Amino acid sequence: MPRALQVKSYAKINLGLEVLGLRQDGYHELRTLFQTIDVHDDIVLRPRPRAVSVRCRHRLVPRDRTNLAVRAAEALRKHVQVSSGVEIEIEKRIPVGGGLGGGSSNAAAVLLGLDRMWRLGLGPHGLHRLARRLGADVPFFLLGGTALGLGRGDEVYPLRRQLRGWVVLVDPGVPISTAAVFSRVDAGLTPRENSNSIFYFVSRGLEGIGGDRILTNDLEEAAMEEAPALKERVVRVRDVLRGEGARIDALSGSGSSVFGLFDDARAARRASAVLGKDGMPVRVVRTLTLDQYRRTWGLPRVR
Ligand code: C5P
Repeated sequence: MPRALQVKSYAKINLGLEVLGLRQDGYHELRTLFQTIDVHDDIVLRPRPRAVSVRCRHRLVPRDRTNLAVRAAEALRKHVQVSSGVEIEIEKRIPVGGGLGGGSSNAAAVLLGLDRMWRLGLGPHGLHRLARRLGADVPFFLLGGTALGLGRGDEVYPLRRQLRGWVVLVDPGVPISTAAVFSRVDAGLTPRENSNSIFYFVSRGLEGIGGDRILTNDLEEAAMEEAPALKERVVRVRDVLRGEGARIDALSGSGSSVFGLFDDARAARRASAVLGKDGMPVRVVRTLTLDQYRRTWGLPRVR
């Protein structure tokens, strides 16, 4: 039997997110900019003769077949007709319901990990279709770094300009359901304004001009309606982040995590200290580029 394998399952933030409309399949057409950050869950994959099971101490993580990591293992088994099982142990560090893609990241990490453990040789490319079926954010975690997400967010394209910076991450500790936020968008409670800010950002990047301030998150209003108690705190956090010189300050995905992107580590630490004094659970982490992410998986550089 193969040996147990330990892997890191990284979080993402959305530097910007535009909702363009409702699709026939019930999902929303998006344009988003994903960014991997150095916050990760630890996953251990232990070979088992037949069954797929999951262990996790976090009270909000399901320990049955509704867990996306279990579904990923089951889907891969079926796809390659392997009868081997696996026990998936997840040590959670990525906030649950925080808009940081933890569940999707775990699913992608299980796909990449089992691909290695079972010596399947599929790689990120060969796993892409399976990933898409598991969830809209899962394909991004096969790629990593700074990437454009189109369609449901599952058509992902690495950006030529990979961001390097410091991220001040605030976890207000109020889990928000992504599905609930998207249905608020549908209910028309939030006026939707479609723009081309993400395309401007990408094209300016190609020309070497910064354009971070034009990015927005179309889910922010709906998220604040979903969790009204958060609103004041989010406004305060964003004010501090901007005041200390963040290039981008925003809610990640459907929330509830808020982040600030800084070029300067000292400014990031200053912002973190101010927020910490306010009693906010805050940490300072780095971004991971495409190559740095691929290195964590032992994958070759992209040319
Ligand atoms: O794909 P995933 O299960 O991660 O998405 C969670 C929920 O977010 C979906 O059930 C759907 O309600 C909503 N969603 C959406 N449009 C997207 C992505 C997610 O409506 N492009």
